[in-house]
Amino acid sequence: MFQVDLDLIWYRDWLFSIPACEIPKAGSYVVPEVGVYSVVIVRGSDGDIRAFHNSCRHRGSVLCKSKKGTGAKLVCPYHQWTYELDGRLLWARDMGPDFDATKHGLKPVHCRHLSGMVYICLAEDAPPLEELAAETARYLAPHDLENSKVAFESTIIENGNWKLVWENNRECYHCAGNHPSLCRTFPEDPRTIGNDGSGEIAGLQQQHSARCEAAGAPSAYKIAELGDWRFVRTPLLDTAESYSMDGRVAVTKPNSSLPFRDGGALLKFKYPGCWTHFLSDHILLFRVTPISATQSEVCTKWLVHKDAVEGQDYDLKRLTEVWIATNDEDREVVENNQRGIRSPAYQPGPSSPTHEGDNIQFVDWYAATMIRAITGTASPLAAE
Ligand code: FES
Ligand SMILES: [Fe+2]
Repeated sequence: MFQVDLDLIWYRDWLFSIPACEIPKAGSYVVPEVGVYSVVIVRGSDGDIRAFHNSCRHRGSVLCKSKKGTGAKLVCPYHQWTYELDGRLLWARDMGPDFDATKHGLKPVHCRHLSGMVYICLAEDAPPLEELAAETARYLAPHDLENSKVAFESTIIENGNWKLVWENNRECYHCAGNHPSLCRTFPEDPRTIGNDGSGEIAGLQQQHSARCEAAGAPSAYKIAELGDWRFVRTPLLDTAESYSMDGRVAVTKPNSSLPFRDGGALLKFKYPGCWTHFLSDHILLFRVTPISATQSEVCTKWLVHKDAVEGQDYDLKRLTEVWIATNDEDREVVENNQRGIRSPAYQPGPSSPTHEGDNIQFVDWYAATMIRAITGTASPLAAE
């Protein structure tokens, strides 16, 4: 099933990879890996961001050995075939008179830059992305992701299947019992994020949404027809401004055009690869990558305004402590979950209709996506 998940979901869908600000200059690159694929995402001399398979067109060596770096050209470490940042083969030594360099450019990977977020798709034909692109532009407009910088990043391995990581992420039924720091500011009432499955939105969420919308920040609950992405701006508890231990902003230099600090969190997810939180003072980008049937990587990036100065506008410990703790707590519950379901005695139990509506939504998305991929039908209903 792990291979089927890779083949039918991870190798086919759009995957969030990095914030564009992470490769700010021509020649800056990162090397994400998904399953057996290694990809180079690189900024060209024209400023455009492109992605290529990280496999030389000569005898296939990886081109970029490190996870990130900067280079004027992409030079293969094996026999030094040299590629332009736009993928064209520029130089290959002693290949004979009939060698046609134009036929040996790097193989492109679909790559889209959506309002500061770079997505890749490994499929031959990428699924449409237009609606997500338009909604991302609209919802992210008050949050200046393109003028941000990564203040800190953490990468952890969770000993659990990627679907368990998502199931855990989709509910806050576990929050009160596991997340003492996060619960200082994050509301566990599922209706504040519209995920209790009833379609009911709490009054507090409605008021919050109306206040933010009036200030020019799109906030209403919006989910894709296929269920693979969602936006909603949720209030934080009481008058909290950010995910800090005291609830006050963690970064004094704002990272949004919201006219108030207590704008809550714009929550976005895009299956299968990312969930993100946009606050008034910083941005949190979470990326999940499957490693094996029982291991997943979770990479978290904390972004602040590019001109914010550490020690002056923010303290790194204060900025990161709540989610470093929360990620570790989530790792532990996911690992316990993985160990428990390996028992032959495991039998799935019912979901809480109050708290786990989004788990049902995730499982429905997964099942429908698999059915579409297996049957080649446009809609799961057509396959029934
Ligand atoms: S494999 Fe890259 S130059 Fe030979
Ligand atoms: Fe959690």
